Amino acid sequence: MDLEELLSVVQERFRPYDQTFPPIRKLPARGANQREVLALLTRLLREEEGRWKKGYVSGAVYHGEPAHTRFATQAYALASQTNPLHPDVWPSLVKMEGEIVAMTSALLGGGDSVRGAVSSGGTESILLAMKAYRDWGREKRGITEPEVVLPVTAHVAFDKACHYFGIRAKTVPVGADLAADMESVKSAIGPRTVAVVGSAPCFPYGVVDPIRAMSEVAHDQGVGFHTDACLGGFILPWARELGVAVPDFDFRLPGVTSISVDPHKYGFVPKGISTILYSDPDLLRKQYYVANRWPGGIYFSTSLAGSRPGGLVAAAWATMLSLGADGYRSIARKILATTRRIRTGAAKIPGVELMGDSAIVAAFTTPRMDVYQVMEQMSRRGWFLNGLQNPPGVHLAVTLRHTLPGVSARFLTDLRWAVRMAERAPAAAGLAPIYGMAETMPADAVEEFLSSVIDWMYHGS
Ligand SMILES: Cc1ncc(COP(=O)(O)O)c(C=O)c1O
Repeated sequence: MDLEELLSVVQERFRPYDQTFPPIRKLPARGANQREVLALLTRLLREEEGRWKKGYVSGAVYHGEPAHTRFATQAYALASQTNPLHPDVWPSLVKMEGEIVAMTSALLGGGDSVRGAVSSGGTESILLAMKAYRDWGREKRGITEPEVVLPVTAHVAFDKACHYFGIRAKTVPVGADLAADMESVKSAIGPRTVAVVGSAPCFPYGVVDPIRAMSEVAHDQGVGFHTDACLGGFILPWARELGVAVPDFDFRLPGVTSISVDPHKYGFVPKGISTILYSDPDLLRKQYYVANRWPGGIYFSTSLAGSRPGGLVAAAWATMLSLGADGYRSIARKILATTRRIRTGAAKIPGVELMGDSAIVAAFTTPRMDVYQVMEQMSRRGWFLNGLQNPPGVHLAVTLRHTLPGVSARFLTDLRWAVRMAERAPAAAGLAPIYGMAETMPADAVEEFLSSVIDWMYHGS
């Protein structure tokens, strides 16, 4: 399949409305009737809401029950005009942000000295932490060419941070268990290292790195250690309480100096809220921005953004309060049980091999056949799974949507069918060749192609 053909598959998947809802190119000369606009919006969203509501999507919507969503939306509506950039106008947001940070920190063993801030998502929290370590290294150690040591499975946001902030990402391999290889971590730390990173758990396989050992080494070398608990921070503590063997990963380990954790994943709050926590208040200060000579007045911000949606802060705060420990625990119980059921069932399907051990993710590969073909067959049955690479694999991040009656059984039935189809049928087109691309094409060509995909998505050419 050539690139033109691949691009046309992308067009079909990412711009399905070009014919049915013709693109709008400029503001309407006269404002449209609000009822009609809402009707259009409803029709657009209705086309796609069944996917996630019925549990066909990996990750993405972690809760999604109508009453829960309605409550968060009410909280958002109450604060929809607010902006944390103006704490004098809305001191209520200062209180709410402080409390979101405090509740999150308490969940992760944070004592009195742990401080943090709210950001827009896991990526921003990671960017902020990496910038803080870079500045710390320069100030305290005179490191002008900073390096961060991280396993290959660490979220790509770390690579993005390194790219933005002039840090060298020193990646280390994972072992057979798909957790960071300790010997490689030890030997990668050098005089330019400003921080070591581990995941709890990593996105691809849902595996927790050996955070205790990694953070001890970092501590011994006098450098920072960042736990990326964006995915796991709001579910692993309950998993542990419920008897799952979860390795230590949080502030209870003295070497852990920062944690990124996302209320907008297993914290079940609307998208747009993450927290970044530090054991040392001085590190937090490295992410502040303050300006006192700007003609626009005194300016300060705690994260990358300037203006921010206070409605999301209110929705997150209200959701956390309304769920409480008991609410989180009982949802976690369901998700953990469903993950176990899916993993056990998948492992029994001939040809399917699980990748790594996880409480919340079912990652698998199919050594006898192209796993991306299996993924494509799954998508023909309505599933939206995540394609993994290096090595090829597919995963389902289990959410409350998958705990609905019949969903895990449907997943397993469809997976059994998809494996049989992939084994027998000729290669299906779809997105399968795109996932396989990185294995077969030069990196430059893949990057060029992906940039064209983005152009196409938003501009239609
Ligand atoms: C382990 C991990 N870290 C970071 C992120 C980035 O989070 P976000 O998409 O909110 O930027 C993710 C997202 O899935 C993740 O799984």
